[in-house]
Amino acid sequence: MSEQKAPADSCVLVTGGAGFIGSHTVVELLERGYRVVVVDDLSNASEKVLDRIGKITGEKAAARLSFYQADVSDRAALEAVFAANDIDYVIHFAGFKAVGESVLKPVEYYSNNLNTTLTLVDVMRAHGCRSIIFSSSATVYGDPDALPLTEESPKKSATNPYGWTKWMIEQILSDLHVANPAWNVVLLRYFNPIGAHPSGLMGEDPKGIPNNLLPYVAQVAVGKRDTVRVFGDDYDTPDGTGVRDYIHVMDLASGHVAALAWMAGRTGVEVFNLGTGRGTSVLEIIKAFSKACGRDLPYVIEPRRAGDVTANYADCSKAKREMGWEATYDIDDMCRDGWNWQSMNPNGYED
Ligand SMILES: NC(=O)c1ccc[n+]([C@@H]2O[C@H](COP(=O)([O-])OP(=O)(O)OC[C@H]3O[C@@H](n4cnc5c(N)ncnc54)[C@H](O)[C@@H]3O)[C@@H](O)[C@H]2O)c1
Repeated sequence: MSEQKAPADSCVLVTGGAGFIGSHTVVELLERGYRVVVVDDLSNASEKVLDRIGKITGEKAAARLSFYQADVSDRAALEAVFAANDIDYVIHFAGFKAVGESVLKPVEYYSNNLNTTLTLVDVMRAHGCRSIIFSSSATVYGDPDALPLTEESPKKSATNPYGWTKWMIEQILSDLHVANPAWNVVLLRYFNPIGAHPSGLMGEDPKGIPNNLLPYVAQVAVGKRDTVRVFGDDYDTPDGTGVRDYIHVMDLASGHVAALAWMAGRTGVEVFNLGTGRGTSVLEIIKAFSKACGRDLPYVIEPRRAGDVTANYADCSKAKREMGWEATYDIDDMCRDGWNWQSMNPNGYED
């Protein structure tokens, strides 16, 4: 069982901490006083993120951060990290995350997402660390029977290898607790994380053609792409386009810190939805981003994309009740901060 320690006495290993959600969570952890160890192989991140984290938090807080460039499935490297640091908690972000790519590269996705997790939990138990927060996803709910989605809504078959890895890792971590009730597992099911740090110093920096709507819209806004592609306008929604629950990455980051505080002193397996509870359509997003960047963004309607659901949004009352957490940013804030990041860094972390 993880003890209840003051943040300054707690060390949190953040795998994938140089990535989009990880980097914002690291800032939040440092600002709350935690010691943080990041392990990231930089397969989908830039080392420059570390400088930006230092700029945002200041030198004193950044001194509590250690970085290891390593593959989480490299057992020897991970052993060395645990040997050198007295790790109390793990937040496990590391993995591949592009749905479309996972269909084309199933071996790579199953291999990376599952092997990182299996190696991680094996090394954790060898070092007596049994507290883990895992980045799961609303994708495990599939096409919902009813909205809003609660943590009790049924899990559905995944429609792609990425979704299956989330599904399987939830199962693996739950089985760990069955085998040894001392494990303390929190599964956070994110809805659609967007936005960026309000400073404009950190944000999402997708490689290649963005898979998700927001980075795509942001690239149209900055002139890197011509027009937003809207997949389907004949869904059973108010304007015919798909509806999702978008959550500001800053809210998501604070959700992880709330989960850390909540899990201290407990054991078990607990699931929390992290969203806003509000659904926003694709056209509403384009409108909000147009407002943020000051011009009407062009879009074209294209056929529906296989695997896309009509609508999903979360019931987040459990997170509020249990952890005292709720989202505070709205869609306009998310688009403002997303645009701020994109316009200040048109090429992401590249010069
Ligand atoms: N962004 C979303 O829409 C979303 C939604 C739900 C869940 N998630 C999950 O949240 C987590 C973080 O997502 P993100 O958007 O920040 O993605 P990201 O790609 O920006 O971050 C993942 C990080 O993990 C690193 N990484 C990948 N494989 C690794 C390995 N084997 N060893 C060490 N580091 C490795 C990458 O370099 C990257 O920095 C992922 O697990 C993702 O599946 C993301």
